[in-house]
Amino acid sequence: MIIKPKIRGFICTTAHPAGCAAHVNRQIDYIKDSTAIQGAKKVLVIGASTGYGLASRIAASFGMGADTIGVSYERPAADGRTASAGWYNTVAFERAARAAGYIAESINGDAFSHEIKQETLKLVKEKLGKVDLIVYSVASPRRTHPDTGETFNSVLKPIGQPFTNKTVNTNTGVVSEITLEPATQEEIDNTVTVMGGEDWSLWLKALEEADLLADGVTTLAYSYIGPEITEAIYRKGTIGQAKNDLEATAHTLTKQLERYQGKAYVSVNKALVTQSSSAIPVVPLYISLLFKVMKEKGLHEGCIEQAQRLFEKLYSGSTVETDEEGRIRLDNWEMREDVQEAVKAAWSEITTENVSERGDLEQYRLDFLQLFGFGFDEIDYELDVDPEVHTN
Ligand code: NAI
Repeated sequence: MIIKPKIRGFICTTAHPAGCAAHVNRQIDYIKDSTAIQGAKKVLVIGASTGYGLASRIAASFGMGADTIGVSYERPAADGRTASAGWYNTVAFERAARAAGYIAESINGDAFSHEIKQETLKLVKEKLGKVDLIVYSVASPRRTHPDTGETFNSVLKPIGQPFTNKTVNTNTGVVSEITLEPATQEEIDNTVTVMGGEDWSLWLKALEEADLLADGVTTLAYSYIGPEITEAIYRKGTIGQAKNDLEATAHTLTKQLERYQGKAYVSVNKALVTQSSSAIPVVPLYISLLFKVMKEKGLHEGCIEQAQRLFEKLYSGSTVETDEEGRIRLDNWEMREDVQEAVKAAWSEITTENVSERGDLEQYRLDFLQLFGFGFDEIDYELDVDPEVHTN
């Protein structure tokens, strides 16, 4: 099958197995070229197949020498359709990690369910024993509650009043104004149920009950704050309420982990192109302006650079540097005053006509394509490839 990108709005419905492997291998190479870290050795990553979770898994194995188990929810190839990018990424990661001598096992299924938790615990017990790092990096538009069977949908909306701002159609480059109506209380609550901290704590509870937490265990989840431009739709919007809940969960978990001298952290990461962030209105335009500024200042990073910096912060010193809320701040370069001033200035002037020059839409589009394994020079996209790839 010859596989080309098929973009529908903010998703790409195809993925390229060799291109996804190239994407994974580039991230592995970056970590191999970085300073090795003495850190976690037995790592569970929930949401391990794309974006920040995948980068964390790669950095754990190739930077810290860790054995990993990854949980994700991806689609295998079937009926002439390609698998999802995360499926191909997982296959590529497992092959590379095993070839390098690390244990790498993966579970594909709904991390929110009791069944997948139990299946994972069994595999952890069998392959890893006690874990010393659990990374929780699930991003999902919906969650079926494991106890009630009720399905909740998350929404990306402002709270209290409508929000109007600029947005870009990243496919056409057209900049327009968008008005988003405020969420209802039910929508806010549902978003917290999907993207808040409840499932993270259920994972920790399950691991504790199975006696699979090592002394000194660390658990991490990822959050975002961002600037005033995106505040109404992000930090003060429905997703921000979920992030507040996630951050509060870190404090509760830290108390629960005291008997292991363990710690739960939320790391506030940089805005990046991932399958999840491309779905948020306004944010892709902000990201394309931000990339331009950060590249000019030599500060640009992707998920893998952030993952490396995170593990350096976590494991390199005797104490972990946090803000006053106890969060690790990997967004410190994004939020630097000179960076934000430059983005703000560009934002006020941005139009369809100047978006390519004032913003880095090209980088945005390339990053987006690469999420699905397209846009890699080393891959011949005219070649016939088998979409059905599996690990043994
Ligand atoms: P992503 O969409 O690239 O990855 C989501 C992961 O969750 C995938 O591995 C997917 O398979 C998995 N997943 C989704 N539903 C699942 C389910 N029911 N069961 C098992 N696995 C499931 O997302 P991204 O952007 O890497 O997000 C990860 C975390 O990082 C989120 O908490 C997000 O809010 C946070 N973050 C993202 C930023 C960004 O700019 N992309 C910035 C700062 C934080």
